[in-house]
Amino acid sequence: MAVVHFAALMTETWSKSWAPTHIVLVALGVYVTIRAYQISSDPLKSVPDAAFGARYTRLWYLWQLWRGDFQNTNIQLHKKYGKIVRTAPNQYSIDDPEAVKVIYGHTTRFTKGDWYLASAAPQTLPTNLFAQQDQKKHAELRRRFNNFYAMSTLVQYESHVNECISRFSEKLKEFSESKEHIDIAHWLQCYAFDVITKITFDRRFGFLENGEDVGGVIQSIDNFNLYATLMGVFPWLHARLSVFGPLVGLKYIIGYVNQALGERRQAKAQGLDLSTVPDFVSKFFVNNEKDPEGFTMLHIFGGAATNVVAGTDTTAISLSSIVRQLATHPDVLTKLRAEIQDAKAAGKISDPITFQESQGLTYFQAVIKESLRVHPAAGLPMWRVVPEGGVIIAGRHFPSGTEVGINAWVAHRNEDVFGSNPELFRPERWLVDREQAAAMEHYFLSFGAGSRTCIGRHISMLEISKLVPQLFQQFNVLPASTWADIKELNRWFVKPKGLQAVVELRE
Ligand code: HEM
Repeated sequence: MAVVHFAALMTETWSKSWAPTHIVLVALGVYVTIRAYQISSDPLKSVPDAAFGARYTRLWYLWQLWRGDFQNTNIQLHKKYGKIVRTAPNQYSIDDPEAVKVIYGHTTRFTKGDWYLASAAPQTLPTNLFAQQDQKKHAELRRRFNNFYAMSTLVQYESHVNECISRFSEKLKEFSESKEHIDIAHWLQCYAFDVITKITFDRRFGFLENGEDVGGVIQSIDNFNLYATLMGVFPWLHARLSVFGPLVGLKYIIGYVNQALGERRQAKAQGLDLSTVPDFVSKFFVNNEKDPEGFTMLHIFGGAATNVVAGTDTTAISLSSIVRQLATHPDVLTKLRAEIQDAKAAGKISDPITFQESQGLTYFQAVIKESLRVHPAAGLPMWRVVPEGGVIIAGRHFPSGTEVGINAWVAHRNEDVFGSNPELFRPERWLVDREQAAAMEHYFLSFGAGSRTCIGRHISMLEISKLVPQLFQQFNVLPASTWADIKELNRWFVKPKGLQAVVELRE
């Protein structure tokens, strides 16, 4: 009887207070055992960890992303450990030019890692080129959009870019008269915003009027990038929280795009001939008329919104890098100005310079390349998932399902490819024989690589190639503080902070 009593008491005690603790302890024990087994049988276990704990948890990587300077940490890690470093469980950062073709090549079966999922609202994923993981769906989507971004189409937008350059130039003239300090990176972003909205909707956002962050758009894109960067580390959480994240953050842009599309639809209904309006939206609508099932309203919305969200920070950061380097390397600037002057004297360039003419300025092209090399806009490894069968990278076998990625910042500091002192800005680096230039080109990842290369790269080159010669012919950009140790914030895109300058009108 006493035994029965004792047993009953134990059962009651177990079920009341001990059971949850025990369940947690047992679950923890099972988890630790499984992880210990996984780690001990991991073929990559001898690969160095980026930091203590990186092989057990993603928290170290999350912390690095929160700090906002992962591009520098990533460079240091590869300097210390060589070609492969583990940044999180099952995730490896790579520095090996031979891996580019393997990971990103056109025929590869690698898919984008889950980190990208947080860059799209789940309901818009089917038309989101950047985040789409499924190779077949991506290829189909990309085919639908490729033509709109082709070089031959973009030159139709030159007059739009000219209009924005002349507005920007007026603004800079005002600044040169008032001699006030301006944040040149901010003004370059204003330029990028006005150009992209002009070529997309045939109307400028209006940033170049007084530099105001219209509708809080710049701030909301910054918030979105912060959200997507961090949430990408735990993408399962994104599926639950996304309504509070990107959608709410980008409300103004969504509203703007919807309104612009609504107006265009109305104008079309009232008889507007879309072929007379040279912008993306008109071309999208014409395509929709031809193929309403294949190219839907969601495609139109996705394409227009992507232009604004993906095409502004990137172009502004790249322009900032060019301006920063030219303003702090007078010898390079002198050479560039001489090249422009000579081309002008020889009647090889017009005023304003055309995109095609700018391609003939060899030194200028090297300046652009080198500026984008020392400061690529995207500052995180571009994660990809190893396909079935696994793969050999840098002499190691990576099983299927492993995540690997190359960070352009790391690639561009590779001395074997770019020569000694790769951190230094030296456009002459590119003016070498074909073979050497091709090797550098191969490991130049500012626009990504392979089937997922940037679809908008020609647009940004159009904006850059036309603005820079004009800007430096007309003005001196004088740093108002030391720009050598300027702060940068990495939220996928690495933004310079506080490029204070004074602008001077040249004689
Ligand atoms: C200098 C300016 C730019 C830079 C440095 C840049 C950089 C990049 C990079 C590195 C990627 C590849 C990302 C990855 O594989 O993880 C990418 C993809 C992409 N970019 Fe850009 N970008 C720029 C301008 C633009 C513009 C102007 C647009 C749109 C108008 C744009 C739209 C896109 C899209 C849609 C993708 C995804 C393409 C795909 O996966 O098929 N970008 N960009």
